[in-house]
Amino acid sequence: MIQFNSNIESHGNEHQRIFHGDALEVLSQIPDESVDLIFVDPPYNIGKDFAGRKDKWKADEYYLNWCYQWIDLCIQKLKPTGAFYVMTSTQFMPYFDLFIRQKMTILSRIVWAYDSSGVQAKRYFGSLYEPILFCVKDKENYTFNADDIMVEAKTGAKRKLIDYRKNPPQPYKNEKVPGNVWDFCRVRYRMEEYENHPTQKPVSLLERIIKASSNEGDLVLDPFCGTFTTGFVAKENNRDFIGIEIQEDYYKIGLRRLGIATEYKGEYLEKEKKSYETKNII
Ligand SMILES: C[S@@+](CC[C@H](N)C(=O)[O-])C[C@H]1O[C@@H](n2cnc3c(N)ncnc32)[C@H](O)[C@@H]1O
Repeated sequence: MIQFNSNIESHGNEHQRIFHGDALEVLSQIPDESVDLIFVDPPYNIGKDFAGRKDKWKADEYYLNWCYQWIDLCIQKLKPTGAFYVMTSTQFMPYFDLFIRQKMTILSRIVWAYDSSGVQAKRYFGSLYEPILFCVKDKENYTFNADDIMVEAKTGAKRKLIDYRKNPPQPYKNEKVPGNVWDFCRVRYRMEEYENHPTQKPVSLLERIIKASSNEGDLVLDPFCGTFTTGFVAKENNRDFIGIEIQEDYYKIGLRRLGIATEYKGEYLEKEKKSYETKNII
């Protein structure tokens, strides 16, 4: 793990280090070309409430200028063989795409699609996906562990079809590398992995990204950790991790979820009980 000379509050050990501070400030202290994989799920500028911090800029330009600063820093911190995954809302992703494609190769424009049984738009087509860009610095030299992320090939093998384009003809394979439309459930209140955060990303989504684009012992960075899903999955898969989160409530989730501390400022860190778990059953 790289060494830091930072006066920003941080906790961790030789394999994982998390910072309680501002992404731009911490990012600028990370050595250049030191990180293998960066996953960024920033505020989307759509008005979410992150523990009292409003996710809304005065004008779109302010939001984009702020994003361009951390995108540039991420690129600077990434190894020449590194991979960069970045999310934002559908309306801002075209700007990200135009900005990043001048600096990196965008290999995949991924759609994370999900269903919703909640309130639906009635006068337009509701938004049921979030875009993700998968980018690399060097399109000839990057990690992609296809064998570790195979999914079921739903057609072909199941129907016992034969691929006559092969010589000799062969049965279709029953596994394939996922395409760029990903179908993972959003994290909902009753799910085991749920934490108290408005935009928690699912473990399954981060598993695909981390397994595909890093190897054991590699360094993964997430500058906007929220519930620290990225760090949790990195640890489970023996990757090193650096995380940044500005809000203390979420930083405490990170300390607990990554097993770094059981106490913070005298407070015992435990997962918030769900309302149905605290009801007295007679
Ligand atoms: C979209 S959420 C990330 C959710 C996360 N991927 C997860 O799975 O839980 C963005 C997070 O960035 C944090 N944040 C906002 N501004 C920040 C800043 N300047 N520096 C660091 N973190 C920031 C917010 O508090 C919020 O938790």
